[in-house]
Amino acid sequence: MSARRGGRVELVDLVKRFGDVTAVDGISLDISPGEFFSLLGPSGCGKTTTLRMIAGFERPDAGRILLDGRDMAQTPPHKRPVNTVFQSYALFPHLNVRDNVAFGLRFQNVPKDEARQEVAKVLELVRLAGFEERRPTQLSGGQQQRVALARALILNPDVLLLDEPLGSLDAKLRKALQLELKAIQEEIGITFVYVTHDQEEALTMSDRLAVMSEGRVVQVGPPREVYEEPADAYVADFLGVSNLMDAHGLGGGHVRLGDVELAVERGDTDATGEVRLVIRPERVRVEERGTGGPNRVPGMVERSVFVGPTVQVLVRLVGGQLVQAVETSRQETWSTGDAVAVHLPAEDLRVLRAAEPPAEREPRPAVPSSS
Ligand SMILES: Nc1ncnc2c1ncn2[C@@H]1O[C@H](COP(=O)(O)OP(=O)(O)OP(=O)(O)O)[C@@H](O)[C@H]1O
Ligand SMILES: [Mg+2]
Repeated sequence: MSARRGGRVELVDLVKRFGDVTAVDGISLDISPGEFFSLLGPSGCGKTTTLRMIAGFERPDAGRILLDGRDMAQTPPHKRPVNTVFQSYALFPHLNVRDNVAFGLRFQNVPKDEARQEVAKVLELVRLAGFEERRPTQLSGGQQQRVALARALILNPDVLLLDEPLGSLDAKLRKALQLELKAIQEEIGITFVYVTHDQEEALTMSDRLAVMSEGRVVQVGPPREVYEEPADAYVADFLGVSNLMDAHGLGGGHVRLGDVELAVERGDTDATGEVRLVIRPERVRVEERGTGGPNRVPGMVERSVFVGPTVQVLVRLVGGQLVQAVETSRQETWSTGDAVAVHLPAEDLRVLRAAEPPAEREPRPAVPSSS
């Protein structure tokens, strides 16, 4: 199938409150037609609520939702060009695969023959051709999930909303289905808005992702960018970025890590006080103790693990921080207890302001005040 132009989703200053809980606190996003876009964040950050508003099951307290430029405020769920796949996919146990999928057509007046053809087409798409007669209990978890996907796809929506669709599957199946889902999405070219709290899943599948915290979007970007250039320590932490070290910002491109002063060239290089330092493991150089030059920190090898093409070296710095280096296996080998110098090049060191503890965060004023 060819790429389509429909399926743009715009959220403008979207707000949803439940009593005194602000579930969604001013979200703005512009999702392109055909994009695989993920909402990533911890439990309770407002992912499902955001999806439910796009689907029309929940009415925003403020803000707007536009689908292909059309304001959806007055459009009921079944008239919106979207469909949803939920985590608990609730197939009908007494219906076979064909009838479960055809159930998606229940509100359309589709002649039986045509329905049969549509079902066949969409089962082909989710690689379940030949399973028409089976009952859900005769399918694996992953196959059941693909039936649920087929049921949502049969209506040919411009936008598919997926709320933790792989949440109930074991790790291996999950991985396999991640790749399949991505392939299916590319094949049909519709927009996927995908909710997950699994960072690896979001990073593997998405064209772009939004990292959310407490009803807000903290950062939006392609996976590589968000992972390599996290906007703050919260994002870095959540994405499991390695080498996230506590340090003290001195301003003017310098930080203190333990007792060692380092030059820094990336991120918030002027920050002072408590900061976090990020560096990618493959940028960290482990050298003989005593190697000269700037940005060297003494340390001791704690562990060196051979992982095939690379060696992972864990070094405990004199200040107590643990740094991970990834080296190609051909480089020098290190053993536990080796005294070393760790080179943290200034051009690879990123400074992040420490994340404020959520409880102490001031409500953000709608308009920046100058006082
Ligand atoms: N119907 C409701 N009534 C009251 N509070 C609600 C309701 N729905 C959601 N909330 C609250 O709004 C916040 C956001 O909930 P939401 O379900 O959107 O989170 P989520 O990011 O999907 O979390 P999870 O990963 O656990 O599914 C939570 O604090 C939740 O308790
Ligand atoms: Mg949820």
